[in-house]
Amino acid sequence: MAPVATNEKSTTSPNVQSLKDDASKVFNPFYSPAIADDGDESYIHSQYKVGVSSRSLIVQIWNIETFQPFFPNLSWPPLEEVEVTERALFADPEKKSLFRAAKKVRHYTPVIGTEISGIDLRQLSDSQKDELALLVAERGVVFFRDQEINIQEQLDLARHFGPLHKHATTPIPKAGIEEVHVVYNDHSRRPDPASFSKLELWHSDVTYEVQPPSVTSLKVIAGPEYGGDTLWASGYALYSGLSPGFQKYLEGLKAVHSAVAQADGARAAGLPVRREAIETVHPVVRVNPATGWKSVYVNPGMFATDSRRFTRRIVGVPKAESDAILSFLFHQIAENVDNQVRFQWEPNSIAFWDNRAVVHSATFDFWPATRHALRATPHGEKPTSVEDYERQTGKVAKDRQLEIWKQQGLDTQTNGKNYSTKARGYND
Ligand code: SIN
Repeated sequence: MAPVATNEKSTTSPNVQSLKDDASKVFNPFYSPAIADDGDESYIHSQYKVGVSSRSLIVQIWNIETFQPFFPNLSWPPLEEVEVTERALFADPEKKSLFRAAKKVRHYTPVIGTEISGIDLRQLSDSQKDELALLVAERGVVFFRDQEINIQEQLDLARHFGPLHKHATTPIPKAGIEEVHVVYNDHSRRPDPASFSKLELWHSDVTYEVQPPSVTSLKVIAGPEYGGDTLWASGYALYSGLSPGFQKYLEGLKAVHSAVAQADGARAAGLPVRREAIETVHPVVRVNPATGWKSVYVNPGMFATDSRRFTRRIVGVPKAESDAILSFLFHQIAENVDNQVRFQWEPNSIAFWDNRAVVHSATFDFWPATRHALRATPHGEKPTSVEDYERQTGKVAKDRQLEIWKQQGLDTQTNGKNYSTKARGYND
């Protein structure tokens, strides 16, 4: 990949004195959303910097810019159920109109991640959007570079996949637009490695919602020359990698997903919580309606080793068993590199991931540089268990890996799981 030419004067060169001042301001990426910044208003994307440093600031900005009250009391009602149409079900399975328009389609690994070049996302037809939805569901995450799409266009594209989600605690841009989730870090705060482990940074977005997001997009509008990569891990592959007995066992389980820790963290940081925290029970294995494939659906996020994680507990089993299973699955997510893909962003890169089937983790290796990204997040359906999917559709839910091997004409008689009893050496 060519070296990144950042177009931001403040991206990599804060002055030495401010770096010294900032060295004491450490933060935990989960508990300290970017409420403030380095104050550089000459930065070209400053209208997309975060706009939630205080209630009075929000009211002031909106009074000035729109002459109407923005958040009269910064309190949104609980989310209501929304109708979602699974656009991928309308797609040509071969995705001919999307692929024919592309210059190049490059798979990053056998399991997850595809980059498409030669397409301008602003020009997609509705059938290409549907094909993109299917590709994202199959590959977990799809990348594009050099995209001029602006945030309103990004939101419009996201609306094709589902009604937009508004996050209860994370920042929106100073310029408004409640549906945008801003990711912003600059030299004014240094990530505190003492406050989080890498395992804890793996997460799927807002799984505590009744209808968690589906095809989510994140565009990096400014970033470091290198570093600040994002990794995704496949929940389909996690499922495929388990023994048949354990797969069956997990398929019967449900788990509690909680927003409480995120809301508590926001309040502890002096930030508003715009909607009361909820807890929701979802199946531990869900079926993606776009593909009919089963994926493990647990969310490490936050503090995986204690009660502040997103997936709190498995319902109806002894606590020790719940802790052991969740810990095993969380470690598989973070440690099984065969199931992961890593993307090196450039400004104007955009990623679309199926938040129903993958988890992701940003890296925080780029301080003191600026990294700035905007996310659009459509609601998906209520997660569907294997049993419900098969009853509702009359179809059999599939193991992705076995399906692919079958398509390749390979023998799956042994269910792909003919484990050796012999000890093996390590050749390196
Ligand atoms: C997110 O968690 O949605 C943002 C990931 C990133 O900053 O790369």
